[in-house]
Amino acid sequence: MIKKFTYNNPFNTLATVLDIKEESGSLPYFSYTDNSFCYKMSESAVVYGLGEAVRGINKRGWIYEGYCCDDPSHTEDKRSLYGAHNFLIIDDKTNGGDRFGVFFDYPARITFDIGYTDKDVLLVTPQSNDLTVYIIEGETLKEIVSNFRKLTGTSYIAPKWAFGFMQSRWSYFTKDDVIRIADEYENAEIPLDAIFLDIDYMERFKDFSLNDERFPDFKNFVSYMKERGIRLVPIIDAAVKVEDGYDVYEEGKENGYFCKDENGDDYVVGVWPGRAVFPDFLNEKASEWFADKYKMLTDMGIEGFWNDMNEPAIFYSDKGLERAFSEIEKFREIQLDANTFFDCRDTFARLSNSQEDYNSFYHNVDGTKIKHNDVHNLYGYFMTKSAQEGFMRHNPDKRTLMFSRASYIGAHRYGGIWTGDNHSWWSHILLCLKQMPSLNMCGFLYTGCDLGGFNGNCTRDLLLRYLSLGIFTPLMRNHSACGTRDQECFAFSDTKDFKNLVDLRYRLVPYIYSEYMKAVLNNDMYIRPLSFDFEDDDFAKQVEDQLMVGDSIMIAPVYTQNAKGRYVYLPENMTMLRVCADSSVTETQMNKGHNYIDVPLNEVVFFIRDGRCVPLCDSAKNVESLDDNTLKLYGNGECYELYTDDGMTTNVSLDNIRKIVR
Ligand code: GLC
Repeated sequence: MIKKFTYNNPFNTLATVLDIKEESGSLPYFSYTDNSFCYKMSESAVVYGLGEAVRGINKRGWIYEGYCCDDPSHTEDKRSLYGAHNFLIIDDKTNGGDRFGVFFDYPARITFDIGYTDKDVLLVTPQSNDLTVYIIEGETLKEIVSNFRKLTGTSYIAPKWAFGFMQSRWSYFTKDDVIRIADEYENAEIPLDAIFLDIDYMERFKDFSLNDERFPDFKNFVSYMKERGIRLVPIIDAAVKVEDGYDVYEEGKENGYFCKDENGDDYVVGVWPGRAVFPDFLNEKASEWFADKYKMLTDMGIEGFWNDMNEPAIFYSDKGLERAFSEIEKFREIQLDANTFFDCRDTFARLSNSQEDYNSFYHNVDGTKIKHNDVHNLYGYFMTKSAQEGFMRHNPDKRTLMFSRASYIGAHRYGGIWTGDNHSWWSHILLCLKQMPSLNMCGFLYTGCDLGGFNGNCTRDLLLRYLSLGIFTPLMRNHSACGTRDQECFAFSDTKDFKNLVDLRYRLVPYIYSEYMKAVLNNDMYIRPLSFDFEDDDFAKQVEDQLMVGDSIMIAPVYTQNAKGRYVYLPENMTMLRVCADSSVTETQMNKGHNYIDVPLNEVVFFIRDGRCVPLCDSAKNVESLDDNTLKLYGNGECYELYTDDGMTTNVSLDNIRKIVR
C-alpha cells in the first residue's frame, strides 16, 4: 500500500510516523531525470492535493511550489502560500488509468509543474536531490488519503470550545475593548466562545510579555472572561525582540538558542518588534526552552494560542538593510529612467522575505550546522510541534487550542492552521472553499479562513456569505487587519441575520464535532470534494464549488456578489435543509441533477445525503452551554451516530459513539 524510496541523504523531517522498509527498485509511475520526477498525465486525469495553495481543487494547469511564504496577496499568479504540503493524488481510474498518491518528503523548495510547461506532464523538481518519496496506493480516493494519514499520523484534536464562533481583530488594544466586544455580542444575543488577542496585548511586541497598562491584572481578566463563557486566545510570534534586559532574549542568547549567521553570531532580522532573532526550533533544547515560555500564559488560565510569522517572515535583516542603504545612494547620482526608478523604489521592498536572508542563517541540529534554506519548510511546523509538546509535558491530559500560519505535513499532528491573510473579496470565499478539501487530504482538519477577509474592507453581504461557509469549517473565526473597517457581526445592521447564521453553527456543533472526531480517529477527511464520495460520477469531478462535510452533508455556498441563489449539482437525491431567517427549518426532497436554489442572505441552505441524518440542537451562548437533549434529526435516514466526549481531555475513543434514533 505504501512504498518508500530514498534518494541520497534526506533530512529527517519527522513528517511520517510509520516505519516502512525502503524499496530498492525505481519509483513507479515516474521517470527520474536531471533531478526531476516526471509523470505523464492522461487527458482526463485529475490531480488533487497540495493543501494550502491557490487555484482549483484539481491542481492541473499551473505551477506550484512547496515553499512556506509570507505573502498577504493570495492571487492566482502565486505559486505558494504559508504551508508546504507536498502530497498529491493522481486519479484517472474511472477511465481505466492510474490512481495513486505521492508524497515528496522534502523540507526545502520544491516545484510542482502540473501541466504548466507541457499540458500532459507533471514535473516535480526539488531544489536538491536529497529526499524521500512515498507512493501511496488504495482502492478508492478515500482509502489513499487514509493510508497517507496512517503514514503521517493522527490529526490534532482541538478542545470542543474551539468549535464555537470566535472573534478576532488586529488588534483589540485594551481590556475595555475586549469587554466591549463581549458586551456587543451578548447584547445582540450572538453566541461567542473566544476573543483573540493580536500583537498589541504584548509590551512592544515582545513574546511572553504583557502590556500592563492596557491589560492590567491579566490573570483576573482571563478568569473574568471565562466566567462570561469566553476564552482569550493570544498570538505568539516566531521572532524574539533583541533587547537587553528582556528575559526571553537574554536567556536565549546566553544559551545559544537563536539561529546564527555563518560566523556563529545571532542572525538579526526585523519583524513586528523591530530587531529580532529566531528561536532555533530545530534544536531540541531551544525548542523545549521556548515551549516552556507559554507556561507563563497557561498559568494565567490561557487555553489556546495562534502561532504567527513562522514561515519565518522577515521584513528585513540587519545585513540586507545595510546593503539597501548603500545601494540607494547610487540613485542620487543618476537621472532616473523608468527602469532605474522602479529599481530604486523596490530597493527596500526587496528586503522582505529575501532568498538571500534564508540562505544566510543556520540551525543547530544535534550539533550539525544546517543552512536554513535547506530546511525552510520545517520552521513553522517545528514551532507548532514545540509548543504542543510543551503543553503535553506540563498538562498531559488536557487539550490546548493551537493553530499556526506556516506548516508542513507532520504539523497536522500538533495543531491546526488558518489560511493567513486573505482579503475581503468574494473570490476568497471560493478560494477557502477549494483549500479546505485539499488541506483535509493532508491531515489539516482543524482549519478555516479569516471570515469576512483579513485585508480590505468587508461589507454586510460579504460577511454573511463568508459566515455561511464558515459555519461548516472547524475553525470559525472572524478576523481582520488593522486599518480596516469594523467587521464584527454587530458592526452591521440587522444583527439578527448574523445571529441566525451563528446560531446555526451552534445548532450544528454536535454534528460538526462528531464528524470531525470520527474523521480524526478513522484517518478520514472531514471535508471532501464531491468526487471522493461519488467516484463514478463524471460530473462530480468537475464540481469545485460544493463540498461534502462529514458523512451526511453537502454544502453549496454562495460566493457571488448580489447573487440571490445559485445552481447546485446533486449527485443523488437529497434532502434540502433551509434554515430560514426566523431560524425555522424546512426540509424539501430534491432530485438528483442540476437545480437552481434561492439563497437569501439571511438564510442558509445545505443538503443531506439520501438515507442519512443530521442532528441539530438548540443554540446556546457558547459550546459548553449546548444541550444534547435538544437534538432533533433531519434528513430521510433512520439514525445518526453521534460522537461525544468531555471535549477537554485527551481521553478520546471511537467507543464514544452512540446511535440517535428518531
Ligand atoms: C499577520 C497575521 C495576521 C495578524 C497580523 C498581526 O499578518 O497573518 O493574522 O493579525 O500578522 O499580528
